[in-house]
Amino acid sequence: MGASEFEGLPGVAVSLLKGGVGKSTIALNIADRLAARGHETVLIDLDKDGHLTTQLGYDEAYDREADLGDALIDGEDPQELLIETEFGVHLLPSNNDLENVETRLKDERFADVKLRRNVVEPLVENGYDYVIIDAAGGRGKLSDNALIAVQRVIIPLIPRAGSINGLNKMIERQIAPIRENIGLEILAVTPNMIRETMNQHNEHRTLVENLNREFGPFVPEYAQIDPEVFDALDDPGQTINPIPKPGIRERTAISRAFKRGLPVSAFDEDCDQIPNFDHLADIVEEHS
Ligand SMILES: Nc1ncnc2c1ncn2[C@@H]1O[C@H](COP(=O)(O)OP(=O)(O)OP(=O)(O)O)[C@@H](O)[C@H]1O
Ligand SMILES: [Mg+2]
Repeated sequence: MGASEFEGLPGVAVSLLKGGVGKSTIALNIADRLAARGHETVLIDLDKDGHLTTQLGYDEAYDREADLGDALIDGEDPQELLIETEFGVHLLPSNNDLENVETRLKDERFADVKLRRNVVEPLVENGYDYVIIDAAGGRGKLSDNALIAVQRVIIPLIPRAGSINGLNKMIERQIAPIRENIGLEILAVTPNMIRETMNQHNEHRTLVENLNREFGPFVPEYAQIDPEVFDALDDPGQTINPIPKPGIRERTAISRAFKRGLPVSAFDEDCDQIPNFDHLADIVEEHS
């Protein structure tokens, strides 16, 4: 097996070993932006709870007999599992049996490359352009499989105490061990659900400021702020105009769209955050 054989398949996993940070929302909206450009895009829901699958209205698929395990472990054609959504993305749904699939994986040889070998590779060979994976919120075989399948990850963080700590833990416990064996690129660490302005001290500013200071190269353009600007914001003698509004902002259009099973572009095409999802899609395209 040559090293070149292990270069990432086109796509990205959206992952953090924590819940409620916007993994599913961001995965859905990146997939939507890629599909809008005419790319055949597959969105894989690897979360055992199947939030994305049920949110998109596919409760039946979540409860059906056929599931990801058939392709992942038994080698059946993954294309049979795909559902075409009304917004043009092909969904590979989660299933209520994924917990069991994860348990079965533990007894498999080469368990960490199953998703890559039996699902993502065949889909790419069949002509799909990008695979976006909504990774499980906890550490486990499926979450490792997500990162190894595409070898690229986008990590969302929200303004909450301990966010950066969670990022450091994920790098230390999951990303670093995988990197000992194969390449794994962090495409972006994106602040999400940012609401407050940056001229006051609060969790929103703390997250954006610390990310820029400690993880600068991974911060996408829409969230980049020069550390000197933060110093200037605290200096009564200086005026910063306009006050920057970094990150993926908290928008009711985003959450309402998600509740209705839609990417934000299909719900409110004027939402000012769509360019940020487009930017993440650009990064995926450039690095795939
Ligand atoms: N930028 C945003 N603006 C407004 N609402 C958002 C934004 N990002 C995410 N949300 C909302 O926050 C909630 C949590 O997001 P989401 O379900 O995508 O997170 P998750 O990390 O996938 O969570 P889980 O671990 O439970 O699967 C959802 O209701 C979603 O619509
Ligand atoms: Mg989710």
